[in-house]
Parts: sequence; C-alpha cells; structure tokens
Amino acid sequence: MDLEKIKDLIKSDTVGNRILVYEELDSTNDLLFKMGEELTEDGTVVISDYQTMGRGRLNRSWFSPKGVNIYCSALFRPKIGVSESAVFTFIASLALMDSYESIGIKPKIKWPNDLVFDGRKLAGVLTEMKPGKNFLVDFIVVGIGANLNMRIEDIENKEDISAIATSACEILGRDVDRVLFVKDLLTYLDKYYNIFLEEGVHSIVAYWVNRWGNINRSVKINIDGRTIEGVVKKVDRFGYLYLETDRGDLVKVISGDIVF
Ligand code: BTN
Repeated sequence: MDLEKIKDLIKSDTVGNRILVYEELDSTNDLLFKMGEELTEDGTVVISDYQTMGRGRLNRSWFSPKGVNIYCSALFRPKIGVSESAVFTFIASLALMDSYESIGIKPKIKWPNDLVFDGRKLAGVLTEMKPGKNFLVDFIVVGIGANLNMRIEDIENKEDISAIATSACEILGRDVDRVLFVKDLLTYLDKYYNIFLEEGVHSIVAYWVNRWGNINRSVKINIDGRTIEGVVKKVDRFGYLYLETDRGDLVKVISGDIVF
C-alpha cells in the first residue's frame, strides 16, 4: 500500500517519530486512544487506508472509503489543563490549511473543526482527551480526516453526501499524491506543535483567528436546533466564541455548527 512509504519520509522533531500504518481499522482515534493508556509517546501517529467505524464530532460517523482519502490520528502529551485541549483542534486545522494550500486549494476554516470549500466539507478534526491528575491532560488524540481522491460520483448513496462533502480531486480535477499530502500534514502538525510548545496556547489561537478571518463579522450558529446570530468579538484560549447580538449582549458559544 502506498501509504507505507510515509515512514521513510518523515524527519520531524516529534510528530511522526513513530508511525503505524494499517490497511483497515475501525477508527484511528480508537486505536491510538487505547495505545495512549499504555504510555505511548508524544508524537505517535496512526494512519489507516480504510476505516469501518470512522467517527466525527457530535457522534456523527465519518465516511471513510478505502484507498482514497487520509484517515490519521496523532497522540500528544502536552502539559496543559484539560480545558485547553481545544488548542489541538486549532493546531490540526492550521496544518490542514497549509497542506491543502500546498496542493493549490484554499479552503476556509469553519469553526470549530471543519475545513470547507464552496460550503462543502473537505476535512474534519476530532480531538479527544484523557484527563490526568489535578485537572491536567494525560494525553490528547487528534484525529484528522482529509478528503483527497474520493469521487462523489462513485459513492453509492451520493445524494446523502454530494451536498455536504467535497474532495481535493473534485476541486482540482485530478488525483493528489496521498503520501506527499500526509508528509506535508505531519510536517505542519510538527511545526505548529513546536510553536505551541515554544510560544504557548495564545500564539496558536492568534494564528488560527487570523486564518479564520471572522473577527468582527456576523455569523449564525446552530446550537441544538436553535440559531443565534451575532458579530464575532473574540475567540478565547479554550476555543469558545464570543458573539455580540443585536441587543448588545455578549454571548459565549461553546459548541455548535456555523450556518452559512
Ligand atoms: C468531524 O468533522 O466531525 C471530525 C471528523 C474526524 C474524522 C477523522 S478520520 C481519522 C480519525 N478517526 C476517526 O474515527 N475520526 C477521525
């Protein structure tokens, strides 16, 4: 399988110092989370060519057809409080943005964890955390699903997915080299992880806010079926949004889906 080649290409400090590549897994996040309980080291990466039970945020499933996209997870052991683990979603979104840009695609970030192109989902991040002692993190698993060579026309129930998903090859009209893409992705993850280690959470949030580009813009957010609208005033170190509503209230939004 072509993805095996990645092991020879990565020369990063931490992310990818150990890479495990599988033909098939239920979910790369599930395996790496189990490995985390056994003291697996910082920067370990699991990649699979296919997932039978790929998972997304809010208990959604993640469509994971064989041999076309990227499904990978990376384990981190940062010394941060449990409430700060959202910064790893930002680290992954930044790495994904840079990786797609290096193949000529400029996606948009959709808070909190999606990359979209023309309103359709191109990639997603699922950050899961094991708490340790004294409200500190034991470890974090960051799962990344990146749509690359998936053709919507080949999907059986394409009505379900064509309205919401896209892929690099749908956008570019050609296939993308998956190995080079994962190489970039792990290299950028390592870069932003090192920025986080050297400069802290604030720096990553600032990079992310800058790329997101929605400060002082009006957004609509769907929270459990209810939509609230307001102007984004800030994003804090926990990844929460602060919206100023028409009535002048400042509302803190912890989770939800941005509506375009
Ligand atoms: C989302 O957008 O809701 C997050 C999707 C995350 C999908 C990736 S694919 C690799 C890793 N393993 C999983 O089961 N999920 C994540």
